[in-house]
Parts: sequence; structure tokens; C-alpha cells
Amino acid sequence: MNLVNMNNVSIKKEDIEELKSDTKKLYSFVKTENNGRLFFVLNKLGKLPYDFDDAPLLYLIDHKDAKIRYLAIKNLAKLGKFSLFPVFKKVIANDPSADVRREATSAIGRLRNSKAIPFLIELLKDPDPEVVMQAIRGLLVFKNNQLVAKELKKLKDHPNEIIQDVIKKEFFPKAPKKNSFKHTEFPDFLRNKVVLGDVQEIIKYVPDESVHLTFTSPPYYNARDYSIYQSYEQYLKFLERVFKEVHRITKEGRFFILNTSPIIIPRVSRQHASRRYPIPYDIHPLLVKMGWEFIDDIVWVKPEASVKNRNAGFLQHRKPLAYKPNARTEMVMVYRKKTDKLIDWNIKQYDRKTVEESKVIGDYETSNVWEIDPVFDKTHSAVFPLELCKRVIKFYSFRGDLVFDPFAGSGTLGKAAQILGRHFFLTEIDPKYFERIKENLGFIDVTYSVFNNSKKLQ
Ligand SMILES: C[S@@+](CC[C@H](N)C(=O)[O-])C[C@H]1O[C@@H](n2cnc3c(N)ncnc32)[C@H](O)[C@@H]1O
Repeated sequence: MNLVNMNNVSIKKEDIEELKSDTKKLYSFVKTENNGRLFFVLNKLGKLPYDFDDAPLLYLIDHKDAKIRYLAIKNLAKLGKFSLFPVFKKVIANDPSADVRREATSAIGRLRNSKAIPFLIELLKDPDPEVVMQAIRGLLVFKNNQLVAKELKKLKDHPNEIIQDVIKKEFFPKAPKKNSFKHTEFPDFLRNKVVLGDVQEIIKYVPDESVHLTFTSPPYYNARDYSIYQSYEQYLKFLERVFKEVHRITKEGRFFILNTSPIIIPRVSRQHASRRYPIPYDIHPLLVKMGWEFIDDIVWVKPEASVKNRNAGFLQHRKPLAYKPNARTEMVMVYRKKTDKLIDWNIKQYDRKTVEESKVIGDYETSNVWEIDPVFDKTHSAVFPLELCKRVIKFYSFRGDLVFDPFAGSGTLGKAAQILGRHFFLTEIDPKYFERIKENLGFIDVTYSVFNNSKKLQ
């Protein structure tokens, strides 16, 4: 609920304390004060004394302002009195405001009284998923009660995805995957290895749940020289196949960061229009469907002078509809392999020393707008700036982790991994770029190999 702006109301802390301890005063306050002051006080009541008289708050249950009714319920809930159960029930039955009904449902849950179970079960059929969610929360306290468990399990196929997730996590947890590797470990044959070949073939030899982080920038459909696809649909299918495999080889709850941007395929002639392909937006639903959870959309912003100028025409003619902004941004989409486990679980897999050594110290970018200058390479036409890779690695992996780039290009991710004490596994199809990677990474502690279908990767 959007709370009113309270900047222009100020009531002293001592006065609020006095109102809390003097029912008569509070009563006359709630009856006479304007909404702003009333709101301010209700919002600041804090912990209520054990002998608090609920009458002034009950008076507000029928207030015409929903925000006031909401706060009245919120404060009544703090009292934990079962005698208020009928009050909350009535609010849920009659109040026109969704927020107030949700708060009253939460208040019943907070009573933690088994007598409320039948009513909370009834609320599981409420059309408002937030009310259902609050009722679930209240019922989960009695999770071991057979009837409660039976009714909650029925929500496994509820139309709301958050409700489905909660029920599945509570009652149908996935069996842990049999894996010979600990979360922090990975197969040794992948350590600091660069393989020349088609990632679609190479990745088949990578065991499930081997890599901690993937950061990549795939081919730009047919916009650059290194990739030719028959159609955009075929291109998306190719990426879908690769990213499904990336999902398989990613460890539980770990990240996949994808750098793409809409691209333009120039017009065939003046009689035809150029075509724009919104790659990040078209890949996104495919990723979610295969089990990647969307986490963040970071925008990489480049200086305008560094990007292609599309303004020459418009600058002259200034005619509407023909406006073409210069594309200074690329998307850096952040996904996590879907799991019931919280990020905390992932962090707890590491020992204290590793967590300490992996901390992101000093200044860091606090927003999702990352201003980084592009880098131009003598061999490769679209390389990651080292700074971009370093940020991604620092924010999304621990020291000693294995990071993967299926479309390695000049191997910038490997370089950043070397600098930051991570290990890397890279694949690249073009021999010219493979040679560039060698130049970039050197030969110390790096194995370069050419993928051969008949031979296993190790
Ligand atoms: C956008 S570039 C990546 C550049 C890289 N991020 C860097 O910093 O240099 C995409 C790369 O994917 C490679 N590639 C295209 N198809 C591939 C495939 N099937 N398997 C492996 N690499 C492939 C291309 O040769 C190209 O170097």
C-alpha cells in the first residue's frame, strides 16, 4: 500500500507514547484528528503495551479511508488477541479494499491459533492470490496437521506461480541430484581449458552441474562475419539448444549472464527497409521456459561517440516517424538456475576464508546502469571490455570457481578469470579467434585443445 507523504506532519515521540498509554486521549485523537496526523500516529505506534485497550483502533475499522483501516488492522494484529478473530473475519468478508483484506488475513495468521484453521482453509479459495498467500502463511504454522497439509497440497496447481512455488517447496521438494562433485568443486579436465570447436558438440562431454558461472555474448545473428544462420528462427533455436546445455552443466542456484542487444540487418536496397531484431527480448522467454529464473537486467551504456551514428538523415529532415536513436546500450541479463534454495545456501557452501577473499571491496556500481567504454580488438570485431568481465566475475562468483564462456571470441572472460583467481573453461569455433585467445592468455596453466568428435573431451 502506498503510504501518504508524512513529511509535513510531525508529532513528538513522547506524545505518541502518551497516546499509547492513555486510552481516553487516543480515543479523542482518533475521533477528532485529520487523516494526515492520524496516519502519522498509526504508522509510528510501534510496540503496544500488554494492557493496551483496543477500543480506539476498533473504532477505526469502519473509517472511510482505506489506508487508515489498513493501519488499524495492522496495529490490532500486534495484540495477538483471539477475541479479535471475529473482527478480522468481518473485515475480510466486507472490506472493499484488497490491502485491508490482505492485512486482516495476515492478522488471523499471526494469531497462531488452531481454532482459526477452518476459516484459513476457506480463504484458500479466495480470488485474491495475496489473500491466499497470507492464508497459506498462517496455515504453514500447522503444517504437520493432516487436514492442513491435505488442503495446502491441493494448491500445487494453483494458477498463481508464487503459490505453486511455495507449495512445491514445502510439500514436494525435489530430490537432490546425485552428483559426485561438491558445490565448490568441478571436474579437473575443465580447469583453464580452451577448446577449438563447435560448443554444441563439446558441451555434450561436460558433466551435469560442473560450472559456477557462465558469462557470454553469442553471435549477433548474421550481423557479423563469423556466423551465418539460414533464418532468425534457426538462430534462436541454436541459442536455445546451447543455453539448455548451459543450464544442465550449471551448478544448483548459480548464474548465467547473457550479453546481447537488438541488432540491425541493413536494407537490401533503397526500396527496402532495414530490419531490427530484438534478440534479448526474444531469447528471454526461451530461457525462462528452460528453467532460468530472471534476476536482473543490467544495461551496459557506451559513450555516444563510440557507437554507429544513425542520425544523419533525421538531423537534416526532422520528420516524425523517421527518428532513429543511436544505440548506446547493450543488455546484460542476469539469470539464476531455478532452485528452492536461497542465495544464502549457495554462499554457505564455501568456507569462511573463500567468502572473505571473494568480497567485493571498495567502490562498486550500485545501479543497473554500467557505463563502460567499448574495446576494439585488432583481430576480433566484438570483444568484451575487460572491465565488464571483471565486474560480472566479482559480483557473481567466488575465488576458485569455474567460469565458462561458450562463445569465447578473443577470450576476455578467461583473462579476467586469470586476474581474479577464478578458473575458466572456454570454447570457440573459429581458429583465427582461437589463436587470438592463445595470444591473450598465454600458455602458463592453460590447456589448448582441438575438439575431435571421436575423442572424449578429457
Ligand atoms: C560476440 S563474439 C564473443 C566475443 C567475446 N565475448 C570476446 O570477448 O572476445 C561470439 C563468438 O562466438 C563464436 N561462435 C559462433 N558460433 C559458435 C559455436 N557454435 N561454437 C563456439 N563458438 C562459436 C564466434 O566465432 C565468435 O567469436
